[in-house]
Amino acid sequence: MSESTIESVLHEERVFNPPSEFSSYAHIKSLDEYEQLYEKAKADPVAFWAELAEQELEWFQKWDTVLDWNDPPFAKWFVGGKINICYNCLDRHLTTWRRNKAALIWEGEPGDTRTLTYAQLHREVCQFANAMKQLGVKKGDRVGIYMPMIPEAAIAMLACARIGAVHGVVFGGFSAEALKERLGDAEATLVITADGGFRKDKVVALKEQVDLALANNACPSVQNVLVVQRTKEPVTMVEGRDHWWHDLQKQVSDDCPAEPMDSEDMLFILYTSGSTGKPKGVVHTTAGYNLYTHMTTKWIFDLKDTDVYWCTADVGWITGHSYIVYGPLSNGATTLMYEGVPRPSNPGCFWDIIEKYKVNIFYTAPTAIRAFIKMGEELPNARNLSSLRLLGTVGEPINPEAWIWYHRVIGNEKCPIVDTWWQTETGGIMITPLPGATPTKPGSATRPFPGILAEVVDLDGTPVPANEGGYLVIKHPWPSMMRTVYKNPERFRNTYWEHIAPKDGEYIYFAGDGSRQDEDGYFWVMGRVDDVINVAGHRLGTMEVESALVSHPSVAEAAVVGKPDDLKGEEIYAFVTLEGDYVASDALLKELQAHVVKEIGAIARPGEIRFTDVLPKTRSGKIMRRLLRSLAAGQEIVGDTSTLEDRSVLDKLRSGS
Ligand code: WT7
Repeated sequence: MSESTIESVLHEERVFNPPSEFSSYAHIKSLDEYEQLYEKAKADPVAFWAELAEQELEWFQKWDTVLDWNDPPFAKWFVGGKINICYNCLDRHLTTWRRNKAALIWEGEPGDTRTLTYAQLHREVCQFANAMKQLGVKKGDRVGIYMPMIPEAAIAMLACARIGAVHGVVFGGFSAEALKERLGDAEATLVITADGGFRKDKVVALKEQVDLALANNACPSVQNVLVVQRTKEPVTMVEGRDHWWHDLQKQVSDDCPAEPMDSEDMLFILYTSGSTGKPKGVVHTTAGYNLYTHMTTKWIFDLKDTDVYWCTADVGWITGHSYIVYGPLSNGATTLMYEGVPRPSNPGCFWDIIEKYKVNIFYTAPTAIRAFIKMGEELPNARNLSSLRLLGTVGEPINPEAWIWYHRVIGNEKCPIVDTWWQTETGGIMITPLPGATPTKPGSATRPFPGILAEVVDLDGTPVPANEGGYLVIKHPWPSMMRTVYKNPERFRNTYWEHIAPKDGEYIYFAGDGSRQDEDGYFWVMGRVDDVINVAGHRLGTMEVESALVSHPSVAEAAVVGKPDDLKGEEIYAFVTLEGDYVASDALLKELQAHVVKEIGAIARPGEIRFTDVLPKTRSGKIMRRLLRSLAAGQEIVGDTSTLEDRSVLDKLRSGS
């Protein structure tokens, strides 16, 4: 764990009550109702979830045991049950009027569009599943998905779920190197990709990256590549390995029954950064994930059948999994998907889409909101955003100024804002307002979802007094919690369950965030307390970037820290010492930046690299990141420096050598 002090910097006094009109129509209508639900769930979480599982999902076979927690920290939910999440997202709606409701509205960056009803989406998913079967994919096989934001990304995920294959989506912005590492760890047998995608007015050549990742038999498990045509740019198709989706689609039937899965069968692996160099494969399973994403989507986004719901995330992240695909579709909602991002040629594209499709619920990231503030109010003000009734944010703490702007300019002071705290590991939203019930305070994710026993504690697991900083923990298993690190249960145990020692057999989930709770029990999440940084809502391990840097021949040692940044929240700041023969130069700096992009992807590009002769270390050789963080932020170094091995290092760094 890090040496960083957890300090609460936000002191925000304003309170915004849910508009009474909104509350009157909401699923959860008052604070009282929330509190009753919360207390009921807390008194008997197992009964609470069992009741919802019965009411809200369709099962092929009911479970025997709701929760098996006999071998902590390895939880099992709905043991003995048989279910299929794709069936719950599609088939069950086909017997209702929703059959012809829009399931997915898609807009491509160049302006092409596509809308799929539930019946149409079901048909394509079945065809896609049959195409995968034809390529030999079986239940339990791992399938890599490396796609632009096109309907086939969601179709591929749902098709995997339908036949019981485990998907591992890799964000399209990751490099071939990063893709190779993830496909290798998952031992994927099939990769689903596209020729390319459109992003920021450029063509992103995804197939080319797949070819690079698979070159020289680097991923021997991969037997086939299924390629969706998107950009129509020329690509190399390897005979026997690569197949066009549109060719296979012509040959396969659209009849593909959903495989009855055990509740605890693996649904997907999603790689995320931690405090060591290698990203970890977060494992999520079927039934609990289905239930939790279903309930959170329903209550937090207060879904109505008439809503158009838009989450701007990429399906490469957990937000895309839970709140573009599974949660909304399980609820029979209309989910909107956009291929592009705001860019100089079209900075108002988000507002155009809200106006065009009359979006009612809009879910985005604080870093995007801060970018919108910078672009000016004229852009949203020039569009009709009156369809909006609810706004959400996710990914990092939102500063009160950005919250207030979002509320005023985008929400016209009438839309509640749900600031949702959660993680890849938690599978779904954990701390959040319920929009018809919870008074909000700008900058606070407010209170835990019913069934979630969140607390702020010290390292002994003892709750800290109100308004004091501590570690954010969860005290009872919840249905969508990650089950393990893929192929590495020990890493699961020691990353999440051992920082705070299990007491009296009570296992406590350690989230890696610092937080405080105010006098009303509201959570104010302060950010990571480990070696993870959050750049524009993207999570990166400092050591991951460091190992990318030291893999360059010029670099002897590297230390990476987050530097506060107005727009991105944090920016990557790297301190680098060079091997003897190399001298610092602008050209080398650029080369190192490009090297990191090649090793990981553009999201990991260091904003600043500082060449130095020495790095501050403890006597045991640990780099003192706390000092480097202060230096990067241009702050005075305060606190204990007595463990520093060589005190002159600080003077050298301060003087710029
Ligand atoms: C980390 C998890 C969960 C989807 C997106 C990120 C930070 C996330 C909030 C929020 C303050 C937040 C935390 C967390 N975070 N949401 N509303 N307020 N911080 O998923 O990549 O797994 O990152 O994002 O630091 O630990 P992720």
